[in-house]
Amino acid sequence: MENHGLVIEERKERKAKPAEGEMPFGTIFTDHMFMMDYTEGKGWHDPRIVPYGPLELDPAAMIFHYGQTVFEGMKAYRTQDGRSLLFRPEMNMKRLNKSCERMSIPPIDEEKVLACLLELLRLDQEWIPEAPGTSLYIRPFVISTEPNLAVGPSRSYRLSIILSPVGPYFPGGLKPVTIHVEDTFTRAVKGGTGTAKTAGNYSSGYRAQANAKQQGNADVLWLDGIEKKYIEEVGSMNIFFKIGNEVITPALNGSILEGVTRKSVIELLGSWGLPVTERKIAIEELFDLHEAGKVEEIFGTGTAAVISPVGELNWRGKKAVINQHGIGDLSQRLYDTITGIQSGRLEDEFGWTVEIG
Ligand code: COI
Repeated sequence: MENHGLVIEERKERKAKPAEGEMPFGTIFTDHMFMMDYTEGKGWHDPRIVPYGPLELDPAAMIFHYGQTVFEGMKAYRTQDGRSLLFRPEMNMKRLNKSCERMSIPPIDEEKVLACLLELLRLDQEWIPEAPGTSLYIRPFVISTEPNLAVGPSRSYRLSIILSPVGPYFPGGLKPVTIHVEDTFTRAVKGGTGTAKTAGNYSSGYRAQANAKQQGNADVLWLDGIEKKYIEEVGSMNIFFKIGNEVITPALNGSILEGVTRKSVIELLGSWGLPVTERKIAIEELFDLHEAGKVEEIFGTGTAAVISPVGELNWRGKKAVINQHGIGDLSQRLYDTITGIQSGRLEDEFGWTVEIG
C-alpha cells in the first residue's frame, strides 16, 4: 500500500486490555491514535500515528470558543476465523466531508484518511474484541486549532482518529428501550446543522436528555423544530416504525442525520421484499396508529446503537407500549443480519465489509 507519507511512532509498552465481559461504551482507548494537521496555504499535512495521549492546545484555540468541529462513528469487528472487518467505511468518510463542508472546515482526502485508518487498525488490531455484541468503535474528529477569538473559520485544524473497544451503547444490550418524545427543546431545523455530525447537535440535547432520564427514559425522540409535530430522530439513532406490513422512517428533510445503518436497513429490507416508506410522520399519527393496535415494532438504527428496539414511547403524559416491551421479530432479524454481516458470520452479499488485512 502507498503509505501517503504516514509516519508511525509505536508505543514502547502496550497497555493492558480490558476483560470482554462487561465492556462499557467509549471509556477505554487503545495504544495508538492517528493525527494530521491542516494549515492554510499548506493544506493537510504530517499524517502520523503516535501513542494515544493528551493533546496540547492553545487556550485560545477556536474549538473551545465557537465549537467548529465535526466527527464520525464507525466500527471494526473480529470474525471467527481471525479476520478484521470494517462496515461501509467509505460512507463515513464521505459523510465526514459533508459535515466539514457544512461547518466550513477544509475537506479531507477520503481515500488517504481511510488508508491511514487501516494502518492504525493494523497496529491496534489486537484491541478488536471478540465477544458477541462487542466491537472496536472508531472515532475520527476534526477540531479547529487556530488561537483566535474573532468569530470566523479557523485557519488551522487537526484531524485525529481514536479507537475504543466497546460493548452495547444502551446498557443491557439488545433490550427494548423507553424513549421520551421531546416537546420543549429542539435538536435541529432545516438550514441548521442537523445533517452534520457536529458536537453542538449532541450537547444541545443534554438538558432534554437529563429530564427524560429523570423520568426513567433512556433517550429522547426529537420532533421537528418548527411545529413540534413531525418525528425526526432519537438522540443517538435514526428511527423506524413497522405498521402492519409497512415499514416507515422519517424522510431526510435537511435536519435529520443521514445514518449509514439507516441506509443499510432500507437496502436490506428492500432486498427482503419489504420496502421502506420514507415520509413525514406526525407523532399524533403514530399515537393514533398505536391506539388502533397497528404499531407492531419500533426500532432505532445507528453505528453505536446498531438496531435498538423501542419498548415504550412517552409523549405529553401518554404512554405507548410497543410489542409488550418485547423484541419484535423484524428488529431481531435485522439485528442478527446486520451484526452477522459486520462480524463475518453471514455472507456479505452486498459487498459492505472491508477487510483490514
Ligand atoms: C454513532 O452511532 O456512531 C454516533 O455517532 C452516535 C452517538 C454515539 C453520538
